[in-house]
Amino acid sequence: MNHKPVFLIIVAGGTASGKTSVATKIANQILKDKSVSYLSMDNYYKDFSNLSFEEKQNLNFDHPNSFDVDLLVADLKKLKSRVKINVPQYNFVTHSREKEWIEFAPADVVILDGILALQIQEIFKLGDLKIFIKTSDDIRLIRRLERDIKDRGRSFDNVIEQYLTTVKPMHDIFVEPSIQQADIIIPFHDGNEIAIDLVATKVRDILRNNKKEAEKINH
Ligand code: CTP
Repeated sequence: MNHKPVFLIIVAGGTASGKTSVATKIANQILKDKSVSYLSMDNYYKDFSNLSFEEKQNLNFDHPNSFDVDLLVADLKKLKSRVKINVPQYNFVTHSREKEWIEFAPADVVILDGILALQIQEIFKLGDLKIFIKTSDDIRLIRRLERDIKDRGRSFDNVIEQYLTTVKPMHDIFVEPSIQQADIIIPFHDGNEIAIDLVATKVRDILRNNKKEAEKINH
């Protein structure tokens, strides 16, 4: 069995702040010499399939209680021990879990992203590097409107109502204060390549040093 330490990067930030895009860019750079797998916390929304569509559409998806934290923590611990997991698949249009879960292989580096990944202590204490993506509220709202209408089956009015009743209040209470847990804060704009490069270089450096340490111990 491979006991090399697994490095967990946590990427948090408000809705539509660009977490997935930053996580992917970091992953692509680290992939040059390490295996990387990317996990979205969105897959760990609880299964609300017992509720009607109307009830589901009006749930508070921005509160920590909406996530299956126990399953996510158990899975992260498995990945840190290089044990493969099965990840639930979440459907944003039906607001439910799909029947099929997908096998997810462990890797040298695991990147987890989610709005509340730095808010929930059981999750963020497992992170080796914690990043918060800071994007202004107006840009996030515009991005969210475009995305939710195009990809997530919501109407303009519904996105605005959800934003004002749950998304924004929960952002202010839970997401924004979690910036305190971050090791680094990355602004989301086209010129942030240097920040991404710094993170990827640092992670590759840490992993190289870990390897050297392990080799010293084995001699
Ligand atoms: N959400 C929703 N309906 C659901 C489940 C979740 O509208 N059935 C919304 C929540 O309100 C929450 C958001 O999904 O605010 C979380 O996803 P988000 O972080 O916006 O998606 P990402 O693609 O990870 O965003 P980005 O990469 O742009 O940061």
